[in-house]
Amino acid sequence: MIASPPASDVQHRAALEMVCPYQAGKPIEEVKRELGLDRVIKLASNENPLGPSPLVIEHLNRADLELHMYPDYEARQLRHDLGAFLGVAPEQILTGAGSVALMRVIADAFLDHGDEAILSDVCFPVYADVTRLAGATPIVVPVDDELQQDLERMLAAVTPRTKMVFLATPNNPTGRSIPAGDVEAFLDKLPERVLCVLDIAYWEYLAHADPAVQDPVRLLARHPNLMILRTFSKAFGLAGLRVGYLVAHARITASVARVQTPFSTSSVGQAATRIAMHDAEHMQATLALNQASLAAMTTGLTALGAHVWPTAANFLLADMHQDSVDLFDRLLRRGVIVRPQRHPRIRTTLRITSGTLDQTQVLLEAMAAEIRVAVS
Ligand SMILES: Cc1ncc(COP(=O)(O)O)c(C=O)c1O
Repeated sequence: MIASPPASDVQHRAALEMVCPYQAGKPIEEVKRELGLDRVIKLASNENPLGPSPLVIEHLNRADLELHMYPDYEARQLRHDLGAFLGVAPEQILTGAGSVALMRVIADAFLDHGDEAILSDVCFPVYADVTRLAGATPIVVPVDDELQQDLERMLAAVTPRTKMVFLATPNNPTGRSIPAGDVEAFLDKLPERVLCVLDIAYWEYLAHADPAVQDPVRLLARHPNLMILRTFSKAFGLAGLRVGYLVAHARITASVARVQTPFSTSSVGQAATRIAMHDAEHMQATLALNQASLAAMTTGLTALGAHVWPTAANFLLADMHQDSVDLFDRLLRRGVIVRPQRHPRIRTTLRITSGTLDQTQVLLEAMAAEIRVAVS
């Protein structure tokens, strides 16, 4: 055995003490190995159960991928295509290695020591972490009784030190979307010196669930302090390729680009997302399956006594009225990986990603068996 080196005296930054390691969904292979299971399904990371567009797979199988070459530094073609897709100039877009990587560079580009960033108590945990890593302070505003982001209280929390606000629609882990028109009303009241980072990682599902909702991209013309974050990881089924992007005023985008590590978006990621973007058929299949799976889960879980919140994403939040970590563990032993919630306000809830119809059935059967055990 190789002896461990002596403990180091090198101290990391104090800010790291405030950052929790990211809790990813448990990998399928690990669960199979640890528990000796043959069949394990993962409904824990909001991935697309159909996988990526078949056109992407076909491209990757046949293309000369030129992996020895650096990618296009500025992802020009991808930004050009995205610009045409969204109706904005390519200069307004910056791509990155997933939207989480962009969150970090956004915080580093705009937050200084002493600055504040406002966010909700129940939200994607990376917002608070990148704020702390930048040396700034997260100002945490509780979601309301319906688990909605409380936009009025967030506005009331603005101080001269506020530099940024994080909103998400739909929000993770709640699945709740901000009612139509409320983002615009929020921006009308937010001081223009405060950057509003609007995370719409699940936009495709929201637009499908609520056709009345308008693409927030149209708000950029009137609100130069708005930044929209999007990703190819969810509805486009490309989480493994790590491509996300931001859309903002060109000056804001240029500031973030200065901080970003060069070559952040791989050549394979750039090519695959340009193809995926135009596969409307695969997107329709994705959205239809999501709707069917969530409807079946909602009916099944409600029949088991759960409270299920309305969702506009590809996951739902279900209150199972018992400790979620313990229930997660028991479901794991039945080969079903879901996401327990540790935040004190939702400690009895599980976040469950939509699946294929077979996976949905497996989940409901495992849950029914566990709930029966719990009441017997
Ligand atoms: C609200 C939200 N934003 C961003 C992300 C991260 O997406 P990406 O894979 O682009 O980093 C997630 C992933 O779970 C999410 O739920």
